[in-house]
Amino acid sequence: MYHAPVLLSESLDALQIRLDGVYVDATFGGGGHAAPLLSLLGDKGRLYAFDQDEDARANAGHAPFADHPGFHFLHSNFRFLKRQLRAAGVRPGTVQGILADLGVSSHQLDTPERGFSYRFDAALDMRMNPDDERSAAEVLNTCSQDDLQRIFGTYGEVRNARTLAQACIRHRERSPFRSTSDLVSLCESVVMGERWRYLSQVFQALRMEVNDEVEALVTLLSDAMEMLAPGGRLVVITYHSIEDRLVKNWFKTGNIEGIPKQDFYGNIERPFNVITKKPIEPSAEEIKGNPRARSAKLRVGEKKVAG
Ligand SMILES: C[S@@+](CC[C@H](N)C(=O)[O-])C[C@H]1O[C@@H](n2cnc3c(N)ncnc32)[C@H](O)[C@@H]1O
Repeated sequence: MYHAPVLLSESLDALQIRLDGVYVDATFGGGGHAAPLLSLLGDKGRLYAFDQDEDARANAGHAPFADHPGFHFLHSNFRFLKRQLRAAGVRPGTVQGILADLGVSSHQLDTPERGFSYRFDAALDMRMNPDDERSAAEVLNTCSQDDLQRIFGTYGEVRNARTLAQACIRHRERSPFRSTSDLVSLCESVVMGERWRYLSQVFQALRMEVNDEVEALVTLLSDAMEMLAPGGRLVVITYHSIEDRLVKNWFKTGNIEGIPKQDFYGNIERPFNVITKKPIEPSAEEIKGNPRARSAKLRVGEKKVAG
């Protein structure tokens, strides 16, 4: 299976699908959320799906998507959401719901040559879009020690990020990083705690840097606010505490810092109604069937009706 959709019924419920509504799936993947969403739309409903991955694009060429008159696939980074939707004829303020199920798909993780996983020996790539500039090997071979420390510490929450960054610099002075096994053996020389956890954290950190995932999310949140209709819903599933915090802050205050802003008259601006005071998490049953769902957190915001 390409990818088991996470929190499926919870996200569809949160979107409150209307038969004739315009919806966006910002992270199409295997279409696990998109297919049931599409089946809930009537003749006039439309679904615009984004993914920057070529394999995801191929999924959009099969049933039930291919030839469905209401389905449109946009092979693009979702950081261009507003631009791409406008080019497709969707006006700002007219979208009823946007879903983003962040991160990578199981297919990406389980395809050895993509280099996302420490479980396979392969080129250290990790680009969701192979046309992007830097692979993970390039990041390791060119970033300063301070930047590597920031990447491992911030994105991976690696406790000995400084030691690991120093070890990377020493390694690349002898020979540049090329493969996942270069990185795995280096990690094994400095690992703290459980091996699998440490490797997951390091690989996740690099992946987030290579794909500029935090910046893409910030742009998505801002574009989504413009594209949504009043009363429209933004539904985001995150797998990392940084991303969850950004989404939470955005829903509360309309900015990523979570600092309430006042308008000219001193009124606090709150562009969203927060539908989920606490994030929705997968049930024990879902996690048992799909352990990759375990860190998922779903938050829902509803764009306020002006006035
Ligand atoms: C967790 S998977 C989504 C799975 C999908 N919901 C399903 O159930 O089949 C995330 C997908 O989003 C894509 N993706 C991640 N970040 C992206 C971005 N900034 N722009 C476009 N696609 C992105 C990945 O390529 C991947 O296919």
